Amino acid sequence: TADEIADLETIACTVAREAGDLIVEERPDHLGVAATKSTATDVVTIMDKRSEELLRTRLEAARPGDGLLGEEGASSPSETGVTWVVDPIDGTVNYLYQLPAYAVSVAACIGDVHTPGAWRPVAGAVLNPITDELFHAGLGRGAFLDHRGRSSAIQVTSQSDLAMSLLATGFGYDVDKRKRQAALAAEMTGLVRDIRRAGSAALDLCSVAAGRLDGYYEAGLNPWDLAAGWLIVTEAGGLVQGRAGGAPTADLVVAGGAEHVALLAPLVDR
Ligand code: IPD
Repeated sequence: TADEIADLETIACTVAREAGDLIVEERPDHLGVAATKSTATDVVTIMDKRSEELLRTRLEAARPGDGLLGEEGASSPSETGVTWVVDPIDGTVNYLYQLPAYAVSVAACIGDVHTPGAWRPVAGAVLNPITDELFHAGLGRGAFLDHRGRSSAIQVTSQSDLAMSLLATGFGYDVDKRKRQAALAAEMTGLVRDIRRAGSAALDLCSVAAGRLDGYYEAGLNPWDLAAGWLIVTEAGGLVQGRAGGAPTADLVVAGGAEHVALLAPLVDR
């Protein structure tokens, strides 16, 4: 219901802020790599784990029975139909280097989050704790950016000229895929205004939602990288799609205004 979606959105915002405070205030001076995941450059820090643990505890207390899927391994089934999909630090490599482009991403989703294309977000929040920008949305409620006590509705651009468009993309951690993605990005640079690679998929999607970028595409994302940002873009009037116009998955995510996605998707859907 509309009331429930509003509640989920409020919870997403509250826990994202709390986790954002934690990762900034309690970051150790000499933060190291705690573990590696898919490749030697796919790293986890102690703060990713602590942030996920905080999100798990708070979400469990606020909504007992909801499921959870987190980047650092949190996984529990849903008894309510709602599953929280969380990235405790999106942009971990930036966080490690203290580059100020990382975020906490929290989304309430329905459907089977373990099956690509079988789930969708209904409420979500992405917090950049450095700029203190909180992006959030609820299904049918619009997308907003809260900053220094002000909340403003956000909207995607209406850019329909690819040559004038500013894009973002990302390269995952797998070396072979990364080389192919860099080659595609090199090709794309000849067709657009320019391309950014900021290092946080969640923030890239929010930048599209806020009209700071015209479009974004990436292959290799996980549900936690995209769940909240996906809803924030669609509630900001944009489109987020995957291969052949289907739901965004690890295969492909293309985001932007509808006209822009129609131009961009055929170029990167391969
Ligand atoms: C990563 C970031 C990055 C994207 C990678 C993601 P993480 O998330 O979003 O921008 O290119 O595909 O895995 O690992 O820092 O949470």
